[in-house]
Amino acid sequence: MNFEDVYTHEHATRKFLSRKVSEKLLARLIQDAQNSPSLLNSQPWHVYAVMGDARINLCREYEALVRAGKHPQEDFAAMLSLHWDTFPSQNMVNFGASQSYFFRDKLSLFTQANDTMFNAPVLVYLTIPKASPAWSIFDLGIFAQSLMLLAINKGLAVIPAHSLVAYPELVRKYAQIPDNESVGMAIGIGYADCKAEVNADKYIPKRLPLRSVYRLSK
Ligand SMILES: Cc1cc2nc3c(=O)[nH]c(=O)nc-3n(C[C@H](O)[C@H](O)[C@H](O)COP(=O)(O)O)c2cc1C
Repeated sequence: MNFEDVYTHEHATRKFLSRKVSEKLLARLIQDAQNSPSLLNSQPWHVYAVMGDARINLCREYEALVRAGKHPQEDFAAMLSLHWDTFPSQNMVNFGASQSYFFRDKLSLFTQANDTMFNAPVLVYLTIPKASPAWSIFDLGIFAQSLMLLAINKGLAVIPAHSLVAYPELVRKYAQIPDNESVGMAIGIGYADCKAEVNADKYIPKRLPLRSVYRLSK
């Protein structure tokens, strides 16, 4: 794929086929994502992938916690507040409204997709040390974006999802993450189920116009 195709294909996939992702390909993607820039080349990320039986068991326990109504406690929780009194909160409200408008009475597809970990055959967890400066979160985001674009370039689909890190202790157990690392973000990787309604390719959340986000001074 050329770069523009890869970039324009980058949208959240919320239902994956059960088709496996090769371990060799996954390792290659992570190796290539190592080229990402970071503050003073600090490379603060660690990458933990979960697949196979470990993924099945993790998913089972995750679903049980969701069903029991356990409150999410993401390690980055402080970064995600729906009470942000800033323009992103308005964008989130608009996102919710666009989902309701497009999916109407099928809105539960989103919840179902999240609750079943999108059926992603590979869950990739990204961590930084607990004692990290904010720069490391920035670096981690860049690494995540590199990994997602590299995966799409190889015909894979991706979902970055905070719901996947809702219960960090569970993730720690199955992904073997040490206590001194924050479970920052997770990316589900696999092959898209193109027939799944939740993946409707006509549904792409709108972006703000250039004038809302960009100002040039000279
Ligand atoms: C940090 C982050 C967390 C996200 N968490 C979730 C999530 O928990 N569940 C979900 O369905 N989508 C999640 N998404 C996907 C966003 O909803 C999606 O990227 C956004 O609405 C734009 O849509 P698009 O990527 O399909 O163009 C997340 C994306 C990011 C970058």
